[in-house]
Amino acid sequence: MDVSFSVFDTLIDRSDMSSDKWSKYPENVIPMWVADMDFDSPDCIKKSLNQRVSKGVYGYTHTPKSLVKAIQSHLSTHYNWDVSSAHLVHLPGLVCALHLSVRVFSNEGDGIVVPGPVYYHLTKAPALSGRDLLNVDMVIDDGRWVPNMSQFEAACANPKSKMILLCNPHNPGGTVYTKAELLSIHALAKKYDLVVVSDEIHCDLILDNLSHVPFASLNKDASSRTITLMAPSKTFNIAGLGYAFAVIESAELRQVFNKERAGLIPSPNMLGLTAAVAAYEDGQEWHEALLVYLKGNRDLLVERLASTPLKMQHLEATYLAWIDASALSLDNPYQFFVDAGVGVSDGKDFGNSNYVRLNFGCPQSILDQAMTRIEEALIKHKFM
Ligand SMILES: Cc1ncc(COP(=O)(O)O)c(C=O)c1O
Repeated sequence: MDVSFSVFDTLIDRSDMSSDKWSKYPENVIPMWVADMDFDSPDCIKKSLNQRVSKGVYGYTHTPKSLVKAIQSHLSTHYNWDVSSAHLVHLPGLVCALHLSVRVFSNEGDGIVVPGPVYYHLTKAPALSGRDLLNVDMVIDDGRWVPNMSQFEAACANPKSKMILLCNPHNPGGTVYTKAELLSIHALAKKYDLVVVSDEIHCDLILDNLSHVPFASLNKDASSRTITLMAPSKTFNIAGLGYAFAVIESAELRQVFNKERAGLIPSPNMLGLTAAVAAYEDGQEWHEALLVYLKGNRDLLVERLASTPLKMQHLEATYLAWIDASALSLDNPYQFFVDAGVGVSDGKDFGNSNYVRLNFGCPQSILDQAMTRIEEALIKHKFM
């Protein structure tokens, strides 16, 4: 492999980049919260962006055919999923599509079934639009976070239910749903005639030897009721460039979605499109090296946590560790981490304040330093 690990080991000063991640906490706190990585993007992306920027004309831009082809090839190669170009909807981000889908495919007072704790926009989307959130608990089964299926059935059977919001791979918790698990969820969607919005933004970040199965690829019925949301943004660290896409195979769902987004959700930004083409066409080697590096970080985290009272289930995907601090019996575990100098995400935002979410998409030396700070704080407060 041509991509050397040193590209991921390099410390990058983001202090002059108006970075959300690096502005939230004081300088003495290592930011390990929002899902962006402290890595340089692949050279192929930087080169493409530089070439495009040097042209100097930045007018309205449509999605290039090369991007459509690159996405189709990516989905076919990695997920054995053949998608027609007509079924793709290009977007400036994924979150707006989540919120829009809830508003378009359900009415006020309808129920939206969401397995959680989960990335907060999946619960915000129903809450902000006057829908009823029908929570399904994610529970630990054989060391993995999975939805409680009897609760899932009860929520779907609720006469108010209109939609399931799924996050696969699951954030936080890192579950890569198996085909069998997805088929059980699909059986519920079909039985109770629900639309499924499947947020699959983390699908290219699988750390184990597992396959991501797009929900819509399960069978014809699944494809006819699903809006799949994907993006290169997490994988290639280009979230600030604002590009995502939806796959909506049902003509009826797609037409309604497109009608409602018209005039409200802008087209993707020219630089986002440029970066996405480069990522999918030429980012493969960098991506493979990234996964090996992230796996090393996950394994380091597991090793360092093992000697502490903090717990984590096996993380199959993502660079977002879901850490159980309940053994500390603190009123505010999040604050404990921040006081220790590690700026994690508060588990409360995802649905469980006994947890924190730690982003390990960073040079290993930074992760190492953060773990030392956590260990020192645990020792200082006599937790170990
Ligand atoms: C599950 C999930 N969906 C969506 C997003 C954000 O998507 P976007 O930046 O394209 O709006 C994130 C970011 O952390 C995420 O984890």
